[in-house]
Amino acid sequence: MIKTKENKISIHYNRPALANYQLDALFNDSRYAIVESSTKAGKTAACLVWIIEQALQGKTGQDFWWIAPVYGQAKIAFRRLKAGLPRESYTANESDLTLTLINGARIVCKSAEKPDNLYGEDVFAAVFDEASRAREEAWHALRSTLTATRGKVRIIGNVKGRKNWAYKLARKAESGEPGMSYQKITAYDAIDAGILSEDEIEDARRQLPDNVFRELYLAEPSDDEGNPFGMIAIRDCVQPMSDEKAVCFGLDLAKSVDFTCLIGLDKQRRVCALERFQKSWNDTISTVREIVGTIPCLVDSTGVGDAVLESLQKDGRRNFEGFKFTQSSKQQLMEGLAVAIQKQEIGFPDGVIVNELESFEYEYTRTGVRYSAPSGMHDDAVCALALANSKAGTQKPRVIYKQPNHYSQQCY
Ligand SMILES: Nc1ncnc2c1ncn2[C@@H]1O[C@H](COP(=O)(O)OP(=O)(O)OP(=O)(O)O)[C@@H](O)[C@H]1O
Ligand SMILES: [Mg+2]
Repeated sequence: MIKTKENKISIHYNRPALANYQLDALFNDSRYAIVESSTKAGKTAACLVWIIEQALQGKTGQDFWWIAPVYGQAKIAFRRLKAGLPRESYTANESDLTLTLINGARIVCKSAEKPDNLYGEDVFAAVFDEASRAREEAWHALRSTLTATRGKVRIIGNVKGRKNWAYKLARKAESGEPGMSYQKITAYDAIDAGILSEDEIEDARRQLPDNVFRELYLAEPSDDEGNPFGMIAIRDCVQPMSDEKAVCFGLDLAKSVDFTCLIGLDKQRRVCALERFQKSWNDTISTVREIVGTIPCLVDSTGVGDAVLESLQKDGRRNFEGFKFTQSSKQQLMEGLAVAIQKQEIGFPDGVIVNELESFEYEYTRTGVRYSAPSGMHDDAVCALALANSKAGTQKPRVIYKQPNHYSQQCY
C-alpha cells in the first residue's frame, strides 16, 4: 500500500508468505546467493519478491535486473512481477520489459541471449534465473555491472549436468567462499512446506527416468550430462542382432537431411531388423511394405508422414498405425524407451542405435522435457526404436504435472 504524508511517499509493504527455505536461501546477507533447486519449488517466486524488495529500497536512476536465458522467460518474469504488485505502484514499459516503481527505481527484465548487450550499466541488485541454462558470458557481463555498486545477486536454477558455470559457481559457494551462500532445495523440502504435493512427486518419480528425476526434483546432477537413458544402462542393453521374427516395427521417416529408419523387435524385445536409408517416398513406401508385411508398425506420421502413412495403409494394411510427434508425445515416447533401457527390457546391437542413444539429450523447458539429438546429429534410430518399443506395449500414460490448487496466483 502506498500513502502520501507531508509530501513524502511512504511505502507500506507486506512480504507474501514464503517458506523458510525460500527465506534462508535468498533473503540473507550474502552478496552472492546460489540456489540449486527442484523444479516448481518456488525459486522464481521467491526471487521476484526479493528483487521487488531490493528495488523498493532503491531510488530514481537505480536499476535492478532480472536476467533469464531467453526473452520469452524474461517476459514471463515481467508479467509475474506486474501481477504481484499493486497496479498503482509502478508504470510499465512493455517493450523494454521495465517497471518503474513509485520510488523511481527500475526493475528491468532482460534476456541472456546477447551477453554484449548486458555490459555498460550500473546495476544495484540482480537475479539470474535458470542460470544452468544460460551462457557463461552473460554471467560475466552481469558481474561487471555490479562492480561499481557492489550490488547483490541471486543465482537460481535447476541442475543440469556438471559442465556449466552455474554448477561450478555453486561448488565454490558450497565450499564456503567469502560473500557467497549456497542452498540446495529438493522437492521434499517443497512438500514439507506445502508448495508441492507428495503424490505429484511420487508420480514424477515413477514416470521419469531416474537420472531425469534426480536432476529435476532432487537437484542432483546427472553424470550422463543430460543423457536421458544413462550411458551405463545403454551399454547394458547391447547384444547381437536377434535372428528371430519381428513382432512389431517402429518407422521414423526422413524429413529433410535425415534418414528413414525402420526397426523391428522380436517377442523378447530384441532388435531383429534394422534398415536405415535415404530413398524417394515411392521407394521408401515399397521397401517398408515389403519388410514389414502384416506385422504391427508404428509410423512417424508428423507433417509429410501423414501422406506416407496413407500410402503404407493402402489395400487395407491397417497394421501401419500413425504417431504424431509433439513435444509432449515425444517426451512420453522417449520416457517409455528410457524406462525400458534402464530396466534392460530391450536389446539392440552396437552401432548406429548405440551412438545415437549416447548422444541424445534432454532439456527441461517450461512446457516439459524436450528430447532431441544435439544439433547436427541424427535421432532417426532412437525415434524408430522408441516407436517400436511403444508398439511392443510397455508404456504407461504419463500424468501431466498439475499445480497445487491451494495457491492463489495473486500474491506472487
Ligand atoms: N511460498 C509459496 N507458497 C505457496 N505457493 C508458492 C510459494 N512459492 C511459490 N509458490 C507457487 O509454486 C509454483 C512454482 O513456483 P515457481 O515458478 O517460483 O517455481 P520454480 O522453482 O521457479 O519452478 P521452475 O522449475 O518451473 O522454474 C508457482 O505456482 C508458485 O506461485
Ligand atoms: Mg522458475
